[in-house]
Amino acid sequence: MTARAKPLFAANWKMFKGPLEAEEFAGSFSSLYAAHPDRRVAFFPPAISLEAFVRATEQRPDLEAGIQDVHEEVDGAHTGAISALMAAQVGLTWALAGHSERRREFGDDDALVSAKVCRILDSGLKPIVCIGETLEEREAGMLSEVLERQIRAVLASVDGEPLTWAYEPVWAIGTGLTASPDDAGEAHEIVREAIRGGGGGELADSAVILYGGSVKPGNIEQLMAVPGVDGVLVGGASLDPETFASICACSLGAR
Ligand code: 13P
Repeated sequence: MTARAKPLFAANWKMFKGPLEAEEFAGSFSSLYAAHPDRRVAFFPPAISLEAFVRATEQRPDLEAGIQDVHEEVDGAHTGAISALMAAQVGLTWALAGHSERRREFGDDDALVSAKVCRILDSGLKPIVCIGETLEEREAGMLSEVLERQIRAVLASVDGEPLTWAYEPVWAIGTGLTASPDDAGEAHEIVREAIRGGGGGELADSAVILYGGSVKPGNIEQLMAVPGVDGVLVGGASLDPETFASICACSLGAR
């Protein structure tokens, strides 16, 4: 991470919270969490709740927002889909690509994820590219291979733009299992080396790499102390304003 990049605390709400709940959350969270100039906070509500969330946080420019997924094409006859350009019109900063739930449930493979990252960059939004291994892959000793394959596919299709990545071991998502600080540190090092291999030293040094998978108030400080962890992508523990506020306000120690 460059000296200028601030740690990022991101909330992935998945398919939770309609517009009414998103607005209610925004009100509670705004009163519980005061802006911290040394960090960034971003929310990924369901697409239908984005506008309500953005409106409800108008007075809080420190609270950023993004979309959980976009279609890989600019526009067209794709019923139910949303393009990156449309998402950009709502006043967002970010877009996720390649979340493991998209890869598993909707067949987003490396080629599709790469195409989505390109559309996101074209739209002016910033992609957060999600990568990570399943338990079977980890147990088969394929951690590096899987991460390198996922990273190289994306790097081969973009033009050297600096990217944000989220390393989310699939076995730690929604399971209560968290990668140990050592496991997270090792994986983040593999990710940064793979970026170096696929895109060069400058891209690797400037890459922001988040950790995701059962992050909670009880483990956030330990995880943020791991060298190479530049922030977190939080699922379940981001749904309650008090819990997520305490994660975002965690001590960053000597970072
Ligand atoms: P949990 O924090 O619920 O494990 O989810 C992690 C995740 O998938 C964030 O994108």
